[in-house]
Amino acid sequence: MRKKIIIANWKMNHDFYETTSFIRNLLKFIFERKIYHKKKIIISPSFPFLHISNQIIQGTTLNIAAQNIHYMDNGSYTGEVSASMLKSIGIQKIILGHSERKKYFIETNDILFKKIQKGLQYNFDIIFCIGETLIERETKKHFLIIKKQLEETIFKFSLKYIHHFIIAYEPIWAIGTGNTAYPEEIKKMHEYIRFLFKKKYGENISNNISILYGGSINDINAKNIFSINNVDGGLIGNASLKIEKFLTIIQS
Ligand code: 13P
Repeated sequence: MRKKIIIANWKMNHDFYETTSFIRNLLKFIFERKIYHKKKIIISPSFPFLHISNQIIQGTTLNIAAQNIHYMDNGSYTGEVSASMLKSIGIQKIILGHSERKKYFIETNDILFKKIQKGLQYNFDIIFCIGETLIERETKKHFLIIKKQLEETIFKFSLKYIHHFIIAYEPIWAIGTGNTAYPEEIKKMHEYIRFLFKKKYGENISNNISILYGGSINDINAKNIFSINNVDGGLIGNASLKIEKFLTIIQS
């Protein structure tokens, strides 16, 4: 049985106080409601607050993830953060391949391949985002695009690494727009992604890999989305910034 996974991607939001008080309140709630056995909850704050966030969650079931790494170990890359730096403060999970990184920072599949390589070298668990644009969907290229995104990145790695991955299917047109994909669209794509993993790595891996949906999940639609076949949880942006909304999503 795959455990449900709920990930809060805070993107470039929340300052020091907002970050620490949110995480403390969330821990209180998890403890009071005893929801720690049922779900895996991962929070992804901004780089400056990863260290303190990771200290706060020590000894609890909450997890922290970084939103990016560079593919080099160190060097003259102003403004960048390396895998070894994150490891040195105890971070074990990273998000890679988010469509906003692709859009604003021109992260190609080739760059993502190198980032995955570096992430695996440092033994990170990787939440890997894939998704198509609206034009790609409208021209019925969405399945092809998803296949290509996987073939040029994760599928270049051997079976022994696959337990490090969580897949997040985020149709780009659904991110931050208030328009989630229709349940039937989500179902078909998640089925397809699982099928691709089966073809590449076999039934066992395919049954065990977690495939999350992301794109305008909120406190109202979460329950519906999480009940779709092959949806193992969600990667949540906007609605994860308000604790009341995020708590409702966790309980969905
Ligand atoms: P929204 O939930 O704000 O649409 O963002 C989704 C997302 O990009 C999560 O990574």
